[in-house]
Amino acid sequence: PRPRDLAGLHVVVSAGGTREPLDPVRFLGNRSSGKQGVALARAAAERGARVTLVAAHVEVPTDGLAVTAVETASEMALAVESAAEVADVVIMAAAVADYRPETVSEAKIKKEQDVDGLTLRLVKNPDILRGLAALGRPGLTVVGFAAETAPDREALLELGRAKARRKGADLLVVNAVGWTAGFGADDTAVVMLDADGGIVAEADGSKRVVADAILDRVVALRPR
Ligand code: C5P
Repeated sequence: PRPRDLAGLHVVVSAGGTREPLDPVRFLGNRSSGKQGVALARAAAERGARVTLVAAHVEVPTDGLAVTAVETASEMALAVESAAEVADVVIMAAAVADYRPETVSEAKIKKEQDVDGLTLRLVKNPDILRGLAALGRPGLTVVGFAAETAPDREALLELGRAKARRKGADLLVVNAVGWTAGFGADDTAVVMLDADGGIVAEADGSKRVVADAILDRVVALRPR
């Protein structure tokens, strides 16, 4: 059995994919299943943490967890930021939409009979992870993810290093995604970087095994 090495800590985990509405029946979404975030929430709870799961669209059960359900990136920002005020650790495992439609149509968007194309205007969503890291609140440990498509390990690490420096999180968990790997899969492989982009750990296996490896690094980062 795992040690209860997160006892006394409040851990906020975001999971799943946000959905950005276009009209009452359509959205822009992504393939995130929420498996990694839910595995992190379960692992943290078993290691003694009080856990809040901020869940966008997830495809796995969240029974037994304290869940705040959200739909869009903006809703996730509100939920995570308010939970973070009293948290010790925030782990942004969610796949948050970087952009949302500029306007949401009140009525279902109709197909124009004589027009072949449709242009959507998108606007940028707030970067929740970057905002939390920029707070620099003492005692708050901030963990982010970088899901990247890259041809090889070096290219993946290069993207990861740039993102680590840009986001400023205490830990950035880098993994490869593609048409078949990453989102939705049961197994994963990650490289963990510090805020300077240096490699601090690697892990592979089930998303639960990787969750525990991430939490090991979180424990190592905690002020003592
Ligand atoms: O910039 P990118 O989307 O690749 O960054 C991924 C990391 O940033 C993830 O941890 C994700 O949860 C977080 N993120 C966020 N707010 C956004 C976009 C991504 O917190 N608007």
